[in-house]
Amino acid sequence: MVEITLPKNSQVKEGKVWPKPEGATNVRAFRVYRWSPDDDENPRVDTYYVDMDDCGPMVLDALIYIKNKIDPTLTFRRSCREGVCGSCAMNIDGANTLACTKACDEIEGDVRIYPLPHMPVVKDLVPDLSIPYAQLSSIQPWLQTVTPTPAKEWRQSREDRAKLDGLYECILCFCCQTSCPSYWWNGERYLGPAILLQAYRWIADSRDEMTGERLDNLEDPFRLYRCHTIMNCTQTCPKGLNPAKAIAEIKKLMVERQV
Ligand code: SF4
Ligand code: SF4
Ligand code: FES
Repeated sequence: MVEITLPKNSQVKEGKVWPKPEGATNVRAFRVYRWSPDDDENPRVDTYYVDMDDCGPMVLDALIYIKNKIDPTLTFRRSCREGVCGSCAMNIDGANTLACTKACDEIEGDVRIYPLPHMPVVKDLVPDLSIPYAQLSSIQPWLQTVTPTPAKEWRQSREDRAKLDGLYECILCFCCQTSCPSYWWNGERYLGPAILLQAYRWIADSRDEMTGERLDNLEDPFRLYRCHTIMNCTQTCPKGLNPAKAIAEIKKLMVERQV
């Protein structure tokens, strides 16, 4: 029989159960992943009780309540609280989503909150996104042209502009990236759905003049072709985008330029 030795600090323990707020009558339990690089402890899941009559409706409101009123050491990212910046992406109730747009009422029972899966953790709910950002940089996500820059602006027809709908709205939250099994197993070589959607956003832009070079950069058994159309990415995107379709469009262009 194969014997598997789990790496140190890989098992999540039951953590601290914090006291319920005094006098509260509408209380919910939040079970939150905790891990700090500053001590030598395994990760744990702490239980906090939030007075929902004293808290906003979203999961991010509850995390802010916990940080402000119960445990200031709880660490998470957030900025816009409007579903625009992408920084509050985490795994809530078993699915990757944005804490600021996920309502507590949509969740039954205890609210379970973990960091985005299969990424190194910086602390608590903060994932280390160095690799996806390096991958983003590798696809050069900006307009590239060879013709001289026009005096006023790069023009684009309404029809060509419409081809960017469903692409430009990506907020780089990486919910899709970290829900993709191919990315879990090949994260350092496969670019993943968020980066490939960004790559297609520039390939599809009628003003960009580096389409051939961009496709050359993706023509690789790992960078593009590790997508096996499992569709987790599209299912999880909190902005309703379809990275799997963008990846299919790139593959189609790869075939078309062969013939
Ligand atoms: S469709 Fe491709 S990118 Fe999306 S989850 Fe599946 S393998 Fe990953
Ligand atoms: S495609 Fe959706 S899930 Fe993926 S990074 Fe962009 S906004 Fe987030
Ligand atoms: S805080 Fe900006 S997307 Fe949630």
